[in-house]
Amino acid sequence: MNVRIDVRSIKLETERLILRPFEENDLKDFNEYAKVEGVGEMAGWPHHKSMYESKRILDKFIAEHHTFALVHKETKKVIGSLGLEEYNEEHFKDYENQRGLELGYVLSKDFWGQGLMPEAVHRVIEFLFEEKNVDFITCGHFIRNSQSRRVIEKNGFQFVCEGVFNGKLGQFEDREYILRKEDYLNGKI
Ligand SMILES: CC(C)(COP(=O)(O)OP(=O)(O)OC[C@H]1O[C@@H](n2cnc3c(N)ncnc32)[C@H](O)[C@@H]1OP(=O)(O)O)[C@@H](O)C(=O)NCCC(=O)NCCS
Repeated sequence: MNVRIDVRSIKLETERLILRPFEENDLKDFNEYAKVEGVGEMAGWPHHKSMYESKRILDKFIAEHHTFALVHKETKKVIGSLGLEEYNEEHFKDYENQRGLELGYVLSKDFWGQGLMPEAVHRVIEFLFEEKNVDFITCGHFIRNSQSRRVIEKNGFQFVCEGVFNGKLGQFEDREYILRKEDYLNGKI
């Protein structure tokens, strides 16, 4: 079953990042990476065409409070997001009596390839399993998105099934993965 985790008042830290709830002041940084063509598209949403569009999405992040802003310690900029989303219960029927959620993430193109998202995902996994009593975490990527596949693999998720994602930009074949708390605790990652 899906569980909702409220990120208000949560602050997590890694070597290079701080994860905290989005704030209104983040608009400029958010727009800076969300307006770049080819970034959001890899996650199923069109790049932002205006500051107004970024404001609308930022307001949603703030109101729904299940998305972390990723603050880069060195530059103090918000360089990405990591959301605690609803997973597709149809694809994980064996887990209907357990508490789960899905991770969704995007990183500014300027910071790709430094291992920053695997670092953020690892910290969130630790938080969810050790502090929030979550039983399993799912994650997915479009078949051609090998960058996201690498983040998932680096954090020890196991492949479950292929499916179809319906989004604003159309239909995409995707691959879905799971990380179970018991495997995490057994030191498999
Ligand atoms: C997926 C994403 C979050 C990865 O974050 P990251 O911090 O760059 O992750 P990593 O540094 O571990 O890099 C992942 C892989 O991307 C590769 N990569 C980095 N920059 C790249 C580029 N410009 N083009 C192609 N591949 C690239 C790396 O080689 C790495 O693979 P490797 O570890 O086998 O060498 C980031 O690419 C992103 O935001 N993409 C757009 C949004 C998206 O795809 N979200 C996920 C939706 S499911």
